[in-house]
Parts: sequence; C-alpha cells; structure tokens
Amino acid sequence: MNVLLSSVGRRSYLVHYFKKALAGQGKVIVTNSHADATGMLAADRAIIIPQAGSPEFIEHLLDVCRKYEIKLLFSLHDWEAPFIAANLKRFKSLGVVPVISELSVLNICLDKYATYNFGLSKGIRVPKTALGQKMALAQLESENLGYPVIIKPRRGQGSICIEKAFNENELRAACLLIEQKMRLMDSNNLLFKPNEENIIIQEEVCGTEYGLDVVNDFKGDFATCLVKRKLGMRSGETDAAEIVDSHDLMEFGSAIGNHLGHIGLLDVDVVVDQNGPCWLEANARFGGHYPFSHEAGANIPAAMIAWAQGRKAETRWFQVKVGAVFFKDFSFTQQHLGLGDKNP
Ligand SMILES: Nc1ncnc2c1ncn2[C@@H]1O[C@H](COP(=O)(O)OP(=O)(O)O)[C@@H](O)[C@H]1O
Ligand SMILES: [Mg+2]
Repeated sequence: MNVLLSSVGRRSYLVHYFKKALAGQGKVIVTNSHADATGMLAADRAIIIPQAGSPEFIEHLLDVCRKYEIKLLFSLHDWEAPFIAANLKRFKSLGVVPVISELSVLNICLDKYATYNFGLSKGIRVPKTALGQKMALAQLESENLGYPVIIKPRRGQGSICIEKAFNENELRAACLLIEQKMRLMDSNNLLFKPNEENIIIQEEVCGTEYGLDVVNDFKGDFATCLVKRKLGMRSGETDAAEIVDSHDLMEFGSAIGNHLGHIGLLDVDVVVDQNGPCWLEANARFGGHYPFSHEAGANIPAAMIAWAQGRKAETRWFQVKVGAVFFKDFSFTQQHLGLGDKNP
C-alpha cells in the first residue's frame, strides 16, 4: 500500500514515520514543486510536479497516483489542498483515499475570519476579530475591541506578516505594510484577493500557547486529541513543546473536531488565559507540531494506514508520554547526485 505526501517540503520526518508504519508493506512517494527539499531526499520516490494553481497540477498528481498505485494521499501545504479538494472524486475513482477534507471545511480553516465566525456559531471561544481596517477602527471606537491588537493576513500561514499595534497610527501603518507584502507573495492567489478585505485585526489573547492534534477518522468522526504546551516558536513553527494531560483542552479539541468534521489530522493553535482556551486557528493537515506527539509515542500514520485497510486503530497509537519535552534541531543532509534517478 503506497502513500503519497504532496508538497513534502522539509518534512522528511513524516516520510520516515510513514516508512516505519508501512514496515516494508508499501512505499512512500513524495511530490514537490522543486527538488531542493529534504523531504524529497528521504522518500522512496520523489517526483517534481508543477505548483498547485498551475493548470497541469491536478493531472500530474493524478498521474503519480496511477503510476505508483497510491492508496493514501496527503497534502502538506495549506495553499495546495483546496485544489485537490475540488477534485476529490477524480482521486477516489482511482481507488485513492485522499486524507483531505471537503472544500467547505478547508475554507473554514484557510480563512481566519471564517474560523472566527465558525467558532462563534458553535460556541467555541475565539478572539474578538474585525475584518479589515475600517471595521477594526469602528470596533476600537466603540470599545468592542481594545489595544494592543494583532494584525494578520486573513489567509496567512507560518506566521507571515503578523504585526502588533498599540495605537491607531501603528494599526494603519501595519495594515498598509501587510497589504503591500501580501501583494508580492506567491500564494496560488489564495493569500491576497484583489476585491476583498485580506487582513484581520484581533484582540491579543495573552496566556500560554498550546498545539492540539485533533484526529478524526476518515468518516470525520472524532478519534483523539493530543495536547502540547508550546515552549518556543521559531519561523512560524513550534520549536519546543511539552506533552501535557489536560482534560479541558481535550474537550476543547474534541468540540472543534466534532463540529468541523474534518478528515484525518487537524493542527490547532490555542491560547489559554484566565478565561480558559481560545481558538486561534486550525490547519487541516499534518502540521509543525505533530512530530512532538509522534516522538512522545503517538502513531497517527499507523492509525491512518489501518483505517485505509478497513482495520481499527490500536489504542496505543493514540497514547503519549505526558511530561515529555522535545526540541526541534538543525541537521544537514547531503544531496547525492542522482535525485533525478528517482523521477519517473
Ligand atoms: N490574537 C492573538 N493573540 C495572541 N497571539 C496571537 C494572536 N494571533 C496570532 N498570535 C500569535 O501568532 C502566531 C501565528 O498566528 P496564527 O493565527 O497561528 O497564524 P499562522 O497561520 O500564521 O500560523 C500564533 O501561534 C500566536 O503565537
Ligand atoms: Mg498558526
């Protein structure tokens, strides 16, 4: 049973987790829009395909699924998954199980203003949020919102273009700067939409930040929630984290998973202050804090392989060592000539 990790980037650890979970019963195939990525070097087969958004992207990905008899398909990039989600039927008709949520679910996760509205509608606490500068200024004037505020792209990722403002001048300057930066970024037209408000302004939630892995099965039913206290963030990703046992956060994660009905893993950011947990955002994919759960004993790839084969997941794959602390580290990988040999 072969697994495809699309937009693998630097997630070589995920390639290794899947290889181990497959235990020789299948290969890990990866795709990326460029070869210079460590995930490409780690895989059994690495194939360069066009970026999502390019007219040929879906055809190339379907070709890879056909050629390598892919059973499980994952996308590891927020700005790619919607293109696959729009074509789920075509992948399913090849016998592929795309571990990718419906477009409606992805749209709630990709758009932080939609996440805010979804949270409000389901009674899940979210930060007070305004869409665009005008709405923010009106809310600040009426004291619905107060300084300092967090200003960020509505459809951002990896902590890009996040600013904090303590007064109106800073808020206006931040909005101008973020808008200008977004216009220049390559994002498959998902980050900046010319005729829309592309920036949200939020209350700053001051507290301790947690990362949740909210796991649903392939029917979208809640399976488990793994909780990590973030000890450090770097380049928009969790850099160090401790595994914690928190009934409140498990409940909070299960409420999100149950209401959202996503497929597979949901990477959730939460801040806990004196009023309890507050939902910042979610990414419907293996995210940057999954390895902390895996290193602490979880094995979500094994659970997903079992589900794809119609088997039950074993309880131990959802168990983690509470109190364990893990750090990301730098390492170097030499690219041996001949990556091209891995191409079809
Ligand atoms: N409203 C907020 N209050 C406090 N911190 C925030 C807020 N919004 C964002 N942050 C900080 O910025 C980081 C990135 O923001 P996030 O909403 O997760 O966007 P991204 O999609 O870029 O990861 C968060 O992990 C958190 O540390
Ligand atoms: Mg985040």
